[in-house]
Amino acid sequence: MERKKNYFAGPSVMPVEVLKQLSNDLVDYQGKGLSMLEASHRGGMFEDMYDECLLTLRELLGISDDYDVYFLGGGATLQFSMIPMNFLRPGTVADYIRSGTWSNKAADDAAKLGSVHYYFDGKEGGFTSLPDPKQVKPSANSSYLYLCSNETIGGIEWQDFPDTGEVPLIADMSSDIFSRPVPVDKFSMIYGGVQKNLGPAGATLIIMKKSMLERQNSNLTAYFDYKLHAKNKGLYNTPPVFSIWAVKLVLDWIKANGGTEGMLERAKLKSGLIYDVIDGSPSFFKSPVDPAVRSRMNVVFRLPSEELEAKFVEASKKEGMLGLKGHRSVGGLRASLYNALPVEDVQALAQFMKEFERTNG
Ligand SMILES: Cc1ncc(COP(=O)(O)O)c(C=O)c1O
Repeated sequence: MERKKNYFAGPSVMPVEVLKQLSNDLVDYQGKGLSMLEASHRGGMFEDMYDECLLTLRELLGISDDYDVYFLGGGATLQFSMIPMNFLRPGTVADYIRSGTWSNKAADDAAKLGSVHYYFDGKEGGFTSLPDPKQVKPSANSSYLYLCSNETIGGIEWQDFPDTGEVPLIADMSSDIFSRPVPVDKFSMIYGGVQKNLGPAGATLIIMKKSMLERQNSNLTAYFDYKLHAKNKGLYNTPPVFSIWAVKLVLDWIKANGGTEGMLERAKLKSGLIYDVIDGSPSFFKSPVDPAVRSRMNVVFRLPSEELEAKFVEASKKEGMLGLKGHRSVGGLRASLYNALPVEDVQALAQFMKEFERTNG
């Protein structure tokens, strides 16, 4: 089979080695006579695999024992409401850095549950920039400061993170987690849907500082209660087992490919290839975002007209290149370059872009 070149924003490309291993082990997991998908999530082969998964995860991101690590269902979107339900305390505000679609959705959910303060609002500027992390200081009565490390639709990414002192810093890292080392200690909570850099949709990774649990609001129903999930290592109810199993294999793949440092090198190389084409032909390709905060995961760009953009998408499909159409809310073009996308597929895209300009410019 010839694999397509996959630039989808999520669900997205996975390492082919992992797909093969999943397929190989699907019916009979390591000779045990049953599938991982058929095993109980209590004890036995699932929990052995899960514990290994969590261990590798901690090792790769350098997560200390001050944090709980586990997976939940419900997508990253569930966290938009769980976070304020748990941590937005009455009589305080939550600071949101509104930098694009995803932080905006999170802020909208929080505003239904309490008082939200837009510490930074990128709306007027078309969500093309971020504040200087050194200048970010939360409000005096803030329950937490929230940011999205990589806006998947707008294509902007924090290059460095603020120090928020006593005020907990919470980040949605759905679309750039494991693409680089992260200073975990700066954060009280990091979370992310796994369906971009870590595996198939279904699980959401939660990394939570244990001391945060002391700040929780009370009277939460079971699934919305982080304390309950922490106590049960994410196994309070049936976890998304298939997704977690695949994440475990993807983490092994990341480890074998240089860990988060290795992923950062790959991400710099790959995004550099596309940004070089964009910057090399400013009369044809336009990057709408502040160059200082360009995403290494989701490269967004425009062509001189919407007609040419539509033609680009059609022509790319004929070359076996999928997912290059920008998000329907913003238009334009977007190449998602997640960890598992081979460097050769990015080189092929760069070549295709140059050729498209030559014949249409
Ligand atoms: C940065 C970010 N946050 C949150 C989400 C929502 O994730 P889910 O669909 O898993 O709820 C997405 C989805 O693409 C995303 O890119």
